[in-house]
Amino acid sequence: MVVIRSVRFLYVQKNHGAKNWNIKLSTNIEHICQIKKASLEGIRFRDRKLHGLTIRLDGLYDIIVQLEEKRVLSNGKDIIMLKQIENRRSIRKYLNKKVEQEKLIQVLESARLAPSGSNTQPWVFIVVESGEIKEKLSMADHQQKWMMTAPVFIVCVADIRCRISEDINVRLDENSPEPELKQIIRDTAIAIEHILLEAEHLGLATCWTAWFEQNAVRPILNIPEDKYVCGIITLGYGDEMPKNRPRKKLEEMVRYEKW
Ligand SMILES: Cc1cc2nc3c(=O)[nH]c(=O)nc-3n(C[C@H](O)[C@H](O)[C@H](O)COP(=O)(O)O)c2cc1C
Repeated sequence: MVVIRSVRFLYVQKNHGAKNWNIKLSTNIEHICQIKKASLEGIRFRDRKLHGLTIRLDGLYDIIVQLEEKRVLSNGKDIIMLKQIENRRSIRKYLNKKVEQEKLIQVLESARLAPSGSNTQPWVFIVVESGEIKEKLSMADHQQKWMMTAPVFIVCVADIRCRISEDINVRLDENSPEPELKQIIRDTAIAIEHILLEAEHLGLATCWTAWFEQNAVRPILNIPEDKYVCGIITLGYGDEMPKNRPRKKLEEMVRYEKW
């Protein structure tokens, strides 16, 4: 039986017409529900810096209400998804805080629903929480020691067997010529991006890492040689808030009607 001794909510509020957000604490669930219902605007709140103020919540509050940002475009369309895409960062420092099982499952569920060519769904996800195995993986992944601060790794594997029969001998590596390899990497990459965005949505942080060779990573997890590891995703609660990395302008990448 779980006994909740005290439940405190941290929330942010902005008075009508005011410029700034106020950070408040409440112990009244009904009050929080009312705010959540009534708020047309809000900001997502988590263990991150907010307007220059570092809010460390580890263990301090039992429940944190996340008021989702909901801005409405002039045409009435909700831009919350775009906001989350904009907020996501590659995080390389994590809090010493476990990822709740429900959140982990929800993140994996987002990958399950990803689209794939001919609906082949050529992916397998290996969840790693063991310190010993994480250590081996981070060493194989260009000795990126920061990875060890993440409580969970998700090793994302593409399986060519949805396109090539088991009878045909295939051993994959970075130089493999099989055209199907491109297809399974493409599809698995979509599912990985779902993971990154769903994690962001849940207030979790991630970093896609892939600074490894197939032959270094596969044996650690007994992955057969006809599978291709597309990435090792670190997952946890972020303990840093890096500035956004630059992106090209839309004009540099979008063309209309012809190249
Ligand atoms: C396929 C792929 C592999 C990556 N591998 C690594 C890696 O091994 N180590 C790392 O620190 N970051 C890695 N990154 C993160 C990128 O450096 C990061 O996405 C990029 O700099 C943009 O920053 P942002 O994700 O914060 O927007 C990888 C990203 C992708 C998509």
